[in-house]
Amino acid sequence: MRLIIEKNPESVAVWTAQYIAKFINRQFENAPDKPFVLGLPTGGTPLETYKELIKLNKQGEISFKNVITFNMDEYVGLPEDHPESYHTFMWQNFFNHIDIQPENVNILDGNAPDLLKECQDYEDKIKAVGGIDLFLCGVGANGHLAFNEPFSSLASRTRLKTITHQTRIDNSRFFGGKLEDVPRNALTVGVATVTDARHLLVLAVGENKALAVKMGIEGAYSHTWTISAIQAHPKALVVCDEKAIQELSARAVDYFRDIEDRIKKDIW
Ligand code: PGA
Repeated sequence: MRLIIEKNPESVAVWTAQYIAKFINRQFENAPDKPFVLGLPTGGTPLETYKELIKLNKQGEISFKNVITFNMDEYVGLPEDHPESYHTFMWQNFFNHIDIQPENVNILDGNAPDLLKECQDYEDKIKAVGGIDLFLCGVGANGHLAFNEPFSSLASRTRLKTITHQTRIDNSRFFGGKLEDVPRNALTVGVATVTDARHLLVLAVGENKALAVKMGIEGAYSHTWTISAIQAHPKALVVCDEKAIQELSARAVDYFRDIEDRIKKDIW
């Protein structure tokens, strides 16, 4: 695992967008025709990173023409064109502004007539395109990874999940503060769907993520904090601002800073 500590949310976004652009470009250099498969989150945290990626796309430093995306999750029962659906979020905040081909965008359909089939089809489609190269993730204050709330199986796959009361409270800020408007269920990739990706990049900013970062990095590998599943991943990268690391021990921070000092000249 690597931990990148940046000063603030803005520098986290710049670092992350540049990393993703270099990562995708490097893969295209090696295999120009092979699509790059990118897993994506919604939420407040990745917004700045999406803005930076849009900038890089407009400057011609990265193209999404041969990128296939899979989003992590979607609310169940919210119309696709609802302002708070994750479909709307992704198109408004990212896809409408880049050169991605619409047929390469995959987002779970929370209104599918057969939700279980929808989840299985999603897993099958990820497999059919050769798996996810890089999964960009956020983390919930309770350590959730996608909507894999505490006590979700670390071996879970894409499925229907109930959303915890705490997460509904956290997300009510997007629904005008009205808890009753926040859906109770979601379709979500499983923990194992995420950790199957060849590379993981987890973003965390702000002090309300500090405990999740601590438990994810220093806590036990446990379904109590599903973010801890990244500990068993060979290529996990966590990018935080200074507030999000304030619960980490000095020992952990020293260890990760030392690694970054050694590889500073090469972001790989
Ligand atoms: P946030 O959500 O980026 O809005 O904090 C992250 C998450 O819940 O996974």
